[in-house]
Amino acid sequence: LKAKRQTKENETLEIKSFFLGPQAENAPWVNDLVKSIMRHWFDRRRSLFGEDPITISKGDQRRTQFRQKIALIRASVEELTARFEKEVPAFSPRYIGHMSSEISIPALLGHIVTLLHNPNNISEEVSRVGLQIEREAISALMEMVGFDARFGKGHFTSGGTVANIEGLVRARYRLARWLALGAAEHASGIAKPKLFETAHRGWESYEKQLPKLPAELLEEKNFLYENPYAISREYEKLFGVDYNGPVVLVTDSKHYSWPKAVLLLGLGKEAFWSVELDKFGKLSVADLKRKVEKARQEHRPIAAVVTVAGTTELGDFDPIDEVHEYIAELRHREGIHLWHHVDAAYGGFFCSLPRGEQSPVSENVQRAIHSIREANSLTIDPHKLGYVPYSCGAFLVGHGKEYYVAPFDAPYIRFDQQSQSGPQTLDGSRSAGGACATWLTAKSIGFGPEGYGVILKRSIAARKRLEGLLAKAHPWIRIAPHSETDIVCFSLAAEGELLSRANERADTIYERFSPAQSKDFFVSKTALKWPAYSEYLDGFLASWKGVRNTDVVTLVRMCLMNPFFDLPSEKPSYAERFVEILVQEIDALTHERDVK
Ligand SMILES: Cc1ncc(COP(=O)(O)O)c(C=O)c1O
Repeated sequence: LKAKRQTKENETLEIKSFFLGPQAENAPWVNDLVKSIMRHWFDRRRSLFGEDPITISKGDQRRTQFRQKIALIRASVEELTARFEKEVPAFSPRYIGHMSSEISIPALLGHIVTLLHNPNNISEEVSRVGLQIEREAISALMEMVGFDARFGKGHFTSGGTVANIEGLVRARYRLARWLALGAAEHASGIAKPKLFETAHRGWESYEKQLPKLPAELLEEKNFLYENPYAISREYEKLFGVDYNGPVVLVTDSKHYSWPKAVLLLGLGKEAFWSVELDKFGKLSVADLKRKVEKARQEHRPIAAVVTVAGTTELGDFDPIDEVHEYIAELRHREGIHLWHHVDAAYGGFFCSLPRGEQSPVSENVQRAIHSIREANSLTIDPHKLGYVPYSCGAFLVGHGKEYYVAPFDAPYIRFDQQSQSGPQTLDGSRSAGGACATWLTAKSIGFGPEGYGVILKRSIAARKRLEGLLAKAHPWIRIAPHSETDIVCFSLAAEGELLSRANERADTIYERFSPAQSKDFFVSKTALKWPAYSEYLDGFLASWKGVRNTDVVTLVRMCLMNPFFDLPSEKPSYAERFVEILVQEIDALTHERDVK
């Protein structure tokens, strides 16, 4: 017991050393480090080309015009810092709204260092160090999620949305090549594959046939190179079926970046096929199987299957392991290779949690986390649970050959098409800031159970504690069930009440704690809808005998990312203080109703 307590105390101490602290408690040593970073930056200039002349003399600096300009800069800086005093205090344990929280000290310092040198990770011509650090940071992320860094490939993006689009771009590119090969086989008469089969034929079969076909023919039959509408008509003739283009199968708890990606890539809104959720709000594997069969019957190639690790609403995990098992079975049994992208924008960092008895999540979630490594591609956002400043997402693929898309050349930039991401990224110019912030956190905090695992274990413990406190605090509080990580959502309903009435109340409580109005705690809100969450919501509503008169459940939503929200050493903790105020607000609502 003593040893357990000691471990807990050590973990709390570590967390306290990773962040500045709600009252800037770590300011003295952080200040020293910031000063040393600035000193280093000044010294580099002085030492690198020391023989160069002094351009800005002391005399220049004493001139009135010069001093006036400096005064203006100073005043503007003061204005900006003053204006930011009104910014949403996302650093505070009182902020439990969106997936935005305190940033870690190493991430902040990594960002500052990089900002000063301002590398552009588009090419080694403008980023000698930044690009190297990016590769190392990508390797660290790969190691955390279980990809083999020797074979994988990836790059940093501005966030999860772009990383998701990067995933679909690769999946579509692979599909276009495999389809083109089948069409070329038909056209040249060397084989007569079926459309669905060739679209998912696998690399082995692709590479076996590739040398037998002229490159021009393959390009001619590729819908990314040629007119896609004309190619569709040609596919119909060659394969002898109606062809209506590819589809994307996405779990219905998806982030809105997925319909956006499908639309942006010109696949058509109709190509977005939602996979139903089960009673736990997770992707239904049975429905996934139905949708795959439907696609096969309709000769619609599947560009990608998308699952979520850490859903936007509930922070929950799809059964990624079961999806993987099904995909593996299709591959072994029928030679059908599906592209599986895991959107782990939020949940990717849970890969740092310990496994087995030490794990704070169920075996199901542990299995889901562990099988992320089987995905073709992955989105993971250091600017969410990596505690890295915005904007910082990352896109990873397990096998380098699935990373490269049609090579673009820019005569004014030196690219190594085979080894660099420069020409392959959706962004052109790219900051190295996020990569270096991630690198520094990987180095100093670590992405394993003793590093980030400690922080995330704490946030999950906070979720469990808050759920317990809320459940006892007021009979109207109805916690959205099956949350396993660090997001808590609740509705406010009396037994047997109309859903619309409960929704109004959740809206009122949200307004009270919204960053626009609140002065103490800050939450967010969300909505779960029928039919996407049908089974889940039916169960939720039944638990308080609610009467459904609308298709939406409004929920107060809290992301408990802040590591100080419920520290065992704090009495009362922020969690306890929040619940106390919340209950007062709910009581005030009851009172208002009585008065009315
Ligand atoms: C599951 C998931 N995917 C993708 C995104 C998009 O990330 P970003 O806002 O960084 O573009 C989010 C954002 O919350 C998310 O929750």
